[in-house]
Amino acid sequence: MPVYLDHNATTPIDERVFEAMLPCLKGSCYGNPSSQHRQGRESQQALQHARAQVAMLVGVQPRQVIFTSGGTEANNLALKGMMSVVDAGSRLVVAATEHSSVLEAARALQCEGYPLAFAGVDDDGVVSPTEFERVLIEHKTALVSVMLANNETGVVQDVVQLSELARRRGVMMHTDAVQALGKIDVNFDALGVSAMSLSAHKIGGPKGVGALVVEKGLMLQPMVHGGGHEAGLRAGTENMAGIVGFGAAAALIHPGLEARAEHCEQLRDRTEQALQKIAGVVVFAQQAKRLPNTIFFAVEGIEGATLLMSLDREGIAVSSGSACASGSGESSHVLKAMGVDDSLAHGAVRVSFGSGNTMKDVEQLISTLQEQVESLLKLNSGWT
Ligand SMILES: Cc1ncc(COP(=O)(O)O)c(C=O)c1O
Repeated sequence: MPVYLDHNATTPIDERVFEAMLPCLKGSCYGNPSSQHRQGRESQQALQHARAQVAMLVGVQPRQVIFTSGGTEANNLALKGMMSVVDAGSRLVVAATEHSSVLEAARALQCEGYPLAFAGVDDDGVVSPTEFERVLIEHKTALVSVMLANNETGVVQDVVQLSELARRRGVMMHTDAVQALGKIDVNFDALGVSAMSLSAHKIGGPKGVGALVVEKGLMLQPMVHGGGHEAGLRAGTENMAGIVGFGAAAALIHPGLEARAEHCEQLRDRTEQALQKIAGVVVFAQQAKRLPNTIFFAVEGIEGATLLMSLDREGIAVSSGSACASGSGESSHVLKAMGVDDSLAHGAVRVSFGSGNTMKDVEQLISTLQEQVESLLKLNSGWT
C-alpha cells in the first residue's frame, strides 16, 4: 500500500467535502450567485453559508472573509493591497523564511519602488522579538508579514507577541496561516493581526480556493478589478464548488482537532526517535515549537532528491523541501536563513503526517529509510 506523508504539500480531499461540492458541479446549485432568480439566490445562500463556516473556524464575522483562488493569491492581495494604501516611502518587512508567495510578492513590490527589508531568524528558524523590533524601528515600516507556521520546518512563530510589538509601533501585520490551519488552533482576534491568509487544500478541501481574512475597516486595494464581487475586493464569478468545499472542510476541523494533533505528534515523535538512530541524521528546528505533524531532516552525504526518489520507488511519498521549490536544484531558503550549511541543506527531506496515517505507516517509513540510507551511502562510497 502506498504511504502518503506529504500533507504539507496538499491533503487528500475528504469524502464529506466531495459530497458537499457535488451539487455545485452537476446538481442543483449551478446558478450564478449574483443572479436575482431562484437558482442565483440558492447559490448566493450556499456562498454565504460557506463564508460563515470559514469565518466560524477562525473566530471572525463572515464579512471579514474574502475568498480568493488560494493561499498564493491571499498573500499577494494582503501585501500588494495593504501596501498600496500606505504613505509613500514606508517600508514592507517580511520574515526571511516566508513562503515564496510572500517573498515574491514582496520582491515585486520592491521593484515598484517600495522599500523592503527581511526579518532574520535564529538557528531554529524562530523570528526573535528583539530582531523583529530592531528591523521595525530601523526605518519607517508600514506592514510586516510573518507566517504562523512554516511549510518546511513546521516552526510556529509567536505571532501573538510579534503582532503586539508591531501594533505598539503602529505597524500593520499580516500572517500566512496556510500551514497552521487545521493543525493547531487558529483564532484571528487572538493572533492580533490585521490580515491572515488561508488555503482550502491543506485542510482536506479542494485546490484553487483560499481566503484572506481581514480586520474590520482595514484599508485594502483590490488586485483583481471587475464586477464588485467579494465586497469589491476580489472580482470574478465565484468558484462555487471550491468555496462550498472550503466551507465544508472548515466545518470539519474543530471536532477532534486536539485528538488529531496528538495522533500526528505521536507519529512524529516515534519517527524522530528512530531517525536519531540513523548515523548522520540532522533534524532541523527540533528545539523550536513546531506543528505536530512535520519533520524536516537531512542525512549527511545523501541528496534529498535522491532519498525522495528512493522512497517513492518503495511507495512512500515525502517531499524534499517545499513542493514548489523542489526540482529547482536550489537548496531551501528557509535552511539558508537558519544558517544551515549548504551541503547539508541539499539533503533536506520533509515528512508531513495527516490524521489518516498510522503507526504502521511510520514503521514502514522507518524500515525503508534505514534500508535506503544504507544502500545510498554504500553507493556513494563506491562500495557495491
Ligand atoms: C505557507 C504557505 N503559504 C502559501 C501557500 C500557497 O497556497 P496555495 O497552494 O493555496 O496557493 C502554501 C502552499 O504550499 C504554503 O505552504
